[in-house]
Amino acid sequence: MIKKIQAFLIVIVLLSILVTGVSGVYFLSDYSENTNRQLLVSAGRFFSEEMKDRISFENAATDCIEIFSRSSGDLRITVIDHNGRVLFDSAEDATRMDNHSDRKEVSAAFLSKGTVFEKRYSRTIGTDMLYMADFDETTGTVVRISMPLVEYVRGVRNIQIAFIAVMIAAVFILSFFGYLYSKKLARPLRELKNAAQSLSISEYKTRITSEGPDEIRALTKAFNEMADRLEHDMSELEEKNKRLSELQDLKTEFAANVSHELKTPLTSIRGFIDTLRNSEVSDPEVRQRFLEIIDIEAQRLNQLINDVLQLSEIERLDNDPEKEKFNLSDLIDETVRMEREKAFEKNVEIIYDTGEDLPVKAGRFRVRQVLINLLDNAINYNREGGRIWVRAVREPDRVIAISVKDTGEGIAEEHLPRIFERFYRVDKSHSRELGGTGLGLSIVKHIAILYEGSTSVESKPGIGSTFTVRLRIADDLV
Ligand SMILES: Nc1ncnc2c1ncn2[C@@H]1O[C@H](COP(=O)(O)OP(=O)(O)O)[C@@H](O)[C@H]1O
Ligand SMILES: [Mg+2]
Repeated sequence: MIKKIQAFLIVIVLLSILVTGVSGVYFLSDYSENTNRQLLVSAGRFFSEEMKDRISFENAATDCIEIFSRSSGDLRITVIDHNGRVLFDSAEDATRMDNHSDRKEVSAAFLSKGTVFEKRYSRTIGTDMLYMADFDETTGTVVRISMPLVEYVRGVRNIQIAFIAVMIAAVFILSFFGYLYSKKLARPLRELKNAAQSLSISEYKTRITSEGPDEIRALTKAFNEMADRLEHDMSELEEKNKRLSELQDLKTEFAANVSHELKTPLTSIRGFIDTLRNSEVSDPEVRQRFLEIIDIEAQRLNQLINDVLQLSEIERLDNDPEKEKFNLSDLIDETVRMEREKAFEKNVEIIYDTGEDLPVKAGRFRVRQVLINLLDNAINYNREGGRIWVRAVREPDRVIAISVKDTGEGIAEEHLPRIFERFYRVDKSHSRELGGTGLGLSIVKHIAILYEGSTSVESKPGIGSTFTVRLRIADDLV
């Protein structure tokens, strides 16, 4: 593009030089021709005056030529009568010259009885000549004065040469400055190109610093703004991607955990089935025992699958679609009664004093799940003859806080931050013995999230734990 601009500039300048030159030469030649004519007219006038005094053509011509040839080339004076006969010629013997009536300027001068100019090639001398033929009334002759145009042509030639020299010089000077200028012009453009290339290979920090003419500065400014926006958008995108891939990692980890958790009971089931099938376990009591183990493992599998399904369902929801109005106190009563049997086996007492009504609007099944999971843990990780207190209280902003306190083994401080994570268990084999899946508390956490709430735990090893779940479910309209 720069080269084109450069070439265009050169062409324009050359053209203008050409136009000025040609018209200059034209005006100049016009001017010099006028001067020459003026000169011939003056010479003619002078010649006529001289003739009036001396009559001798010879002397008049000599004087005239002497005076005027200084400023023009060699003048030649011819006198012709109305028959075309040459009466006098300053260069040749008039008697030997042919009739001149056929000379254009001569015949024209006789015809117009005035002054006629003619420019033509003279075969006698071999150059272009300017003729002036002037009719002289007193003598009835035509005085013709001619001058060679050699000088004039040489002058024009000199001007042409100078003109060409100026053109060549102009080309060089122009090319030089054009080169410098286009280089200056091209620098920001080249930088722009490089910057665009950098952007295309994800170097979003690229900016342009170089100055330039207004248009280019506007371009670089626009470019820099674009780069700003691109950098901002890209970093946002990267942030999102990072979060997405973190989420993906979590899901992959979860999937790996689930299949690992599934394998354990399955391996156990297949082992016992193989044993029953191949060996001669004849003792019916032993066979019965094996079958019971298979049954327990199958139940565990079932529980695990249920928990996983429940968890993924809750996670998918961002609003519980199955809300209903009920009294939370009634639900707690009901659930505690249901769990009492399990608690009784472990000689654990559950204490819940049904207080005031607690009208709520929520998924009954989900809230019950929270209670069951917390009570199961409180029973499972309790000591013989331990106790459990269940409480539910109103808090501001439609929040109801449900807490389950036990006198169990407690949880060491280092485990507390992770206790609500999926599959996180303080003692895996202990939890497994108790039929745990490691998903109970994470289900509780996700239900709390579903109801814009939170979970917290306080625990002292050897003394007991208190789990508190806050749910925004209080129904104020009841
Ligand atoms: N009330 C509690 N007392 C002591 N430890 C508990 C209690 N509740 C939960 N835990 C600990 O937290 C872990 C995670 O609980 P949970 O998510 O319900 O899984 P699971 O009960 O199936 O093991 C349990 O394995 C246990 O180590
Ligand atoms: Mg549990």
